[in-house]
Amino acid sequence: MNLPPLVDLHCHFVPGVDDGARDVDEALVQLREFERLGIHTVVTTPHLAASAVHGDWRDGIEAAFAELKEGAARDCPGVDLQRSFEFRLDDPDADLSDPTIGLGEGGRLLVEFPMLAMPAYPDRMLEIVLAAGWIPVLAHPERYAGVERSFGWIDRWRDLGALMCVNAGSLWGDHGGEAQRVVHRMLAESLVDLVASDNHARPHRATTVREAWEYLAEAGCEEQATLLTATNPAAVLAGDPTVAVPPCEPRQGWVGRLRRLVTGG
Ligand SMILES: [Fe+2]
Repeated sequence: MNLPPLVDLHCHFVPGVDDGARDVDEALVQLREFERLGIHTVVTTPHLAASAVHGDWRDGIEAAFAELKEGAARDCPGVDLQRSFEFRLDDPDADLSDPTIGLGEGGRLLVEFPMLAMPAYPDRMLEIVLAAGWIPVLAHPERYAGVERSFGWIDRWRDLGALMCVNAGSLWGDHGGEAQRVVHRMLAESLVDLVASDNHARPHRATTVREAWEYLAEAGCEEQATLLTATNPAAVLAGDPTVAVPPCEPRQGWVGRLRRLVTGG
C-alpha cells in the first residue's frame, strides 16, 4: 500500500481557545505524532460561533496560534501548520465577510450546525454560507442527531454545492452506531468528499487521518482512502475542484473488528 501525503483539515490545537488543546505542550504532542505518521499539512480549526463574530473576537485566537506556530516550527518543522475556523452556524445574520477565515486560499469554509442537531431549516443554513461567497465544508454530517432518519438531506446539501467532511472516528464507531451506519452508507453512495480527524488533543481519543487511511485501505478501499485524506483536502486548500470518490463498502477486516471491540462501536 502506498501512503499518500496526508492532509488534516479539521482539528483543535490552538491552545486554550475552545474544547481542544489546553496548552501548547498538549497541542505539540499531537503535532509531533502527526509528523511521525506522515500528516504534513494540518489546518487547526478552533470553534467559532457565528454569533460571537464582532469586535476584537480574534485577537486571543491569533495570539495563541502564533505561540503554537512558534513551538511547531521548533518541534515539528516538517508540518505545514495553518489556521482556519470551524464556524458554528447559530446566527442567520452571521457576518461571514472576512476573507481570511476560510480553509487555505480556496474559498471553502468549514461549518457545523449548532448542538450536534439537525437544524430546523437544514438547507437555509448552508445557503447563508453560499450567499456569502463560500463553498461550505460541512463538518461531521454523520453526527447530527436524527440524520439517519433524514438521510436525504445529505444529497440535498451536496446538490447545493457543499462538501461533506466526515470524522475519521465515525468509520469505526467512535461517535456511536448511528454515525457509523450513516458514514458507511455515505461511502457506499459516494456522498463523502473528505475525512478529517476532529482531533481535540485528548490522549484517550487522539484520532488521526492516518488511522482513517489505514482503515479504508485495509478494508479494500485504498483509492478512496487516498482521495479522502490526501487528494481532496489538498484540493480544498488550493481552491481546486475535488474529485468524486467512487462508492466503497469497507470490508470489516481484523483491524476493523479489533477497533469495534476496543471502542464498543
Ligand atoms: Fe471540530
